[in-house]
Amino acid sequence: EKGGYDHFMLKEIYEQPRAILDTYRGRLLADKGLIKMAGVDENIEKFLNANRIIIVACGTSWHAGLVAEYIFEDLARIPVEVEYASEFRYRNPVITDKDVLIAISQSGETADTLAAIKLAKEKGAFVFGVCNVVGSSISRETDAGAYTHAGPEIGVASTKAFTTQITVLTLIALKLAKEKGVFSQSKYHEFLTELENIPSKVEKVLLSNALVEQVAAVYKDATNCLYLGRGYNFPVALEGALKLKEISYIHAEGYPAAEMKHGPIALIDEHMPVFVIATKKGHYEKVVSNIQEIKSRKGKIIAIVTEGDEMVRDLADHVIEVPETFESLTPLLTTIPLQLLSYHIALMRGCNVDQPRNLAKSVTVE
Ligand code: F6R
Repeated sequence: EKGGYDHFMLKEIYEQPRAILDTYRGRLLADKGLIKMAGVDENIEKFLNANRIIIVACGTSWHAGLVAEYIFEDLARIPVEVEYASEFRYRNPVITDKDVLIAISQSGETADTLAAIKLAKEKGAFVFGVCNVVGSSISRETDAGAYTHAGPEIGVASTKAFTTQITVLTLIALKLAKEKGVFSQSKYHEFLTELENIPSKVEKVLLSNALVEQVAAVYKDATNCLYLGRGYNFPVALEGALKLKEISYIHAEGYPAAEMKHGPIALIDEHMPVFVIATKKGHYEKVVSNIQEIKSRKGKIIAIVTEGDEMVRDLADHVIEVPETFESLTPLLTTIPLQLLSYHIALMRGCNVDQPRNLAKSVTVE
């Protein structure tokens, strides 16, 4: 059942090239310059006329929502708000019939997300679901939706659900960018083609598993870790920290790299591992200067960099490379080593990787 892997989590991490492909298969028709998604096509006016998109979700799905905020605003120029479902539902939110609400949920059963959907529907918003489990409560409650075709996710720590959620949301954003005329045909085409390259680039990142395992061995006894990223990779920092917390029980925090000097920098000393996403293009120079700030305070730096990077390699204690891609697609690559890292650290600490204490795969109570 684990397909030769020791744990579901590892199996699911390795399934990502395939899962991402399955998610865009039949939807992304690069040669025709087309994205076909029935749930969006049939409601295209709702999306195009929306005042804003509100994304609600919990946990890892909320992190996918944050990545989507960058994608929708940057590529399609549509204002987006991302909300924790549990906060949104109880704060008497302003919702109108000009709003589109996107609910993201792997299980499709998360109680707070379901309640947020019901509230938005009552107020007349158009509600769109991004779920993995077919026929789940959220997929039935929404007006329309698009499934991630990740296949069953058994490990409690969400992995392939996250990358396939980002894939679906990227397809929607690209489609809207095209419909709105924000994207030229040629730019659109470039994106479609690059999206098709992502599964093989994820395969390539997976080849760094042995290196990530070595890094894990160095830091497995840490009591605190910091994860930093900017722009598209700020949510990846949050997700990296969540993965480590939930399965290895090491305290970890994700931060936008520039926020470090507003507080967390006080934590940095020679005992603090800092995982920094420092891919090219995404505010690279600024992240490099953040890395210098960490180094001058003797923090240990583990950087996720673009293949061939030299500047960060000179500064960091360890570097893990990912292939080059468009900035907006980097989260699909930079997430992978952080998943592997949490997996190996949890394993080395003797933790139950697939069923961490106190956690359930689907949170059906609020
Ligand atoms: C983290 C994790 C949780 C879920 C959250 C939402 O690895 O699994 O944070 O992401 O409980 O679950 P879904 O997506 O099923 O609504």
